Amino acid sequence: MSTSAASPAPVPGPGEPRDSGPARSVSENGTTPGGGPEPTVPPGPVATSEAASTSGTGPETAVRVRGLHKSYGELEVLRGIDLDVVAGEVVCLIGPSGSGKSTLLRCLNLLETPQAGSISVDGFTVTDPDLDVDAMRRRVGMVFQQFNLFPHLSVLENCTMAQVKVLKRPAAEARRVALANLRRVGLSEKADQRPAQLSGGQQQRVAIARALSVDPDLMLFDEPTSALDPETVGDVLSIMRGLAADGMTMLVVTHEMSFARDVADRVVFMDGGVVVEQGPAREVIGSPQHQRTRTFLSRVLNPTTGAAPEAPDTSEAPTTPA
Ligand SMILES: Nc1ncnc2c1ncn2[C@@H]1O[C@H](COP(=O)(O)OP(=O)(O)OP(=O)(O)O)[C@@H](O)[C@H]1O
Ligand SMILES: [Mg+2]
Repeated sequence: MSTSAASPAPVPGPGEPRDSGPARSVSENGTTPGGGPEPTVPPGPVATSEAASTSGTGPETAVRVRGLHKSYGELEVLRGIDLDVVAGEVVCLIGPSGSGKSTLLRCLNLLETPQAGSISVDGFTVTDPDLDVDAMRRRVGMVFQQFNLFPHLSVLENCTMAQVKVLKRPAAEARRVALANLRRVGLSEKADQRPAQLSGGQQQRVAIARALSVDPDLMLFDEPTSALDPETVGDVLSIMRGLAADGMTMLVVTHEMSFARDVADRVVFMDGGVVVEQGPAREVIGSPQHQRTRTFLSRVLNPTTGAAPEAPDTSEAPTTPA
């Protein structure tokens, strides 16, 4: 896991209007995300592009990814990802293990360096070699499956450290903000305890409070409930629902389909390093158009029977390209 868990989280835009995001799209062959042409991204060093430059994105664009490629040696993990998230939108990223979801999230705040493509996050051109990485990460909060709290610090100190070190906030103000966020996740009474004294669900709520304490614009969640006991999953999801209701921009990798269906504005299904299908949450989950999406959802939604959700087989002839 990365040290960036210590890094900041985002700032909400309470009251910001939500946008339903791009219309539903299906990639027929799984290699041309969004159904469009193959991305024309030069190989080699990360390319920046006009499309991802600050001037090329409106204020409503929180995340813009174009033609993103990432390989580990011979293994090509991301094979031309296009993705947009607008301010205030909640997007759930789903897909089988190994499809590249975490890698995509980690590329967004440069925990991984892509080989090609462009990324813009909150007005920062992440793929610009001259990027001020710290300034960008101040705007992006990340919550990991394994919490990544500092075990030797108290809950309160976990939530104040980045504020003081990164934002240069006075200690008293950092404490006030941290306590407010701990209250928000229902844990202000645990402020003086160490992470090891908390349950997994409580630790994850602290991780969310810590991320929120630096006032991020965008929150990235990578399977925030997968390491939790079932009875604590609901507490974390309910906090995430609250964040979404408050207008936080969120990109969430999750297998919690009820959360995705109820909370996400849009669901993006990835497989094999490409976006296979995306659209409004209820449509993608309720009537997936692509066979690969149906197969995945059938395993996740009906793990015992493997029954596929009912949907017409239109994967041979997608009718709603991006
Ligand atoms: N640092 C790394 N070095 C080499 N290979 C890696 C590295 N990180 C990820 N991979 C490989 O990249 C592929 C995609 O991994 P990634 O973690 O992005 O998948 P994922 O969709 O998040 O899967 P999961 O649902 O299991 O978390 C996998 O085959 C993985 O083994
Ligand atoms: Mg992952």
